Amino acid sequence: MDLSIIVPTFNEAPNIAELVRRVTAATAGLVREIIFVDDSRDDTPDVVRAVAAQSTLPVRLIHRDQPTGGLGGAVVEGYAAAASDLCLVMDGDLQHPPEKIPELYARFQEGDVDAVVASRYVGGGTASGLADRTRVFVSKASTLVTRSMFPVRLKDVTDPMTGFYLVDRRALDLDGLTPRGFKILLEILARRSLRVAEVPFDFADRHAGESKASFRQGIHFITQLAALRFGKMSIFAVVGGLGAVANLLIVWGLTTLNVDYLVAAVVAAEVTIIGNFLLIERFVFHDMRDQASGVWSRFAKSFAFNNAEALIRIPIMALMVENLHISSVLATGITLVVAFFVRFVFHSLVVYAP
Ligand code: GDD
Ligand code: MN
Repeated sequence: MDLSIIVPTFNEAPNIAELVRRVTAATAGLVREIIFVDDSRDDTPDVVRAVAAQSTLPVRLIHRDQPTGGLGGAVVEGYAAAASDLCLVMDGDLQHPPEKIPELYARFQEGDVDAVVASRYVGGGTASGLADRTRVFVSKASTLVTRSMFPVRLKDVTDPMTGFYLVDRRALDLDGLTPRGFKILLEILARRSLRVAEVPFDFADRHAGESKASFRQGIHFITQLAALRFGKMSIFAVVGGLGAVANLLIVWGLTTLNVDYLVAAVVAAEVTIIGNFLLIERFVFHDMRDQASGVWSRFAKSFAFNNAEALIRIPIMALMVENLHISSVLATGITLVVAFFVRFVFHSLVVYAP
């Protein structure tokens, strides 16, 4: 067997026949199987059985009565059941074009990789199937934050959230995975250092039915990120919190010594920015210093960024209060939270870039 094609499904009855037809045509040169790992509550299992009876390529069905781990759990179950060590995962709604499978397979056969990822965000790839602008924005922003949290492991991966990829099962620690929700590839790549190549693809519109992505999946994703990488970001947050306290203390100390408020605020900001840099050098990105640029270059980038950010935040806050009619406390809170993530992304991807 050359390839096992694993398709997680949840209520995809109207898409099964078309998917099997296109996969069959696209992979004619390969010895392959399709495994549907199904958690549906509609008639998808019956449709799969009917299609399997007609199909020239082997179609298997694993129906889970008590599903665990959602989409990710289904994929892991597919790995365990696959006849081939080479496993390709794709969605059942034809947003992942089966015609791309040979290209992923060929790239794997070229050698030197454990996985081949089909990416929406690499030369020639598109994400047009993302239903609306909000989803495009959420997808891009969360991809950026995620890559900044795993700058080394995701160095060559522009689309760690894709659900379309091929992996050699022998490179995985299946028992060490704790899948929850949609982002199984991210977990695989975060847990082990794999050699990855990418192939661009067009994320198409759904053939039929509706996306099962939801706010709940978004929460799953955030807890998954935290579980995988609580370390760096939480220390970064603690350092930021210490900086805020130091800032207040310095302003308070200087103004009680009759220093002008504006002068006190500027001195406090600069001292905090420098202190912040020293702390994150030592405690947050210490393992990335060797492969990054020199310490003065890192300092210059960090210093310039934090000053620019502090300056930009003030007019943005004013705009928010004026145009969105929210209180200045809320505006401060929101800009600080956003600034926290932007700062983390910048330091991880730019200041400490390999
Ligand atoms: N077995 C199983 N169990 N399958 C599921 C479950 C589940 O709980 N939830 C969803 N699926 C299946 C769907 O039936 C579909 O085949 C596939 O997983 C993807 O689900 P969609 O509902 O189509 O999700 P999407 O199009 O919004 O998300 C896709 O694109 C994302 C990137 O924007 C997926 O590929 C995600 O993995 C990907 O991150
Ligand atoms: Mn989909």
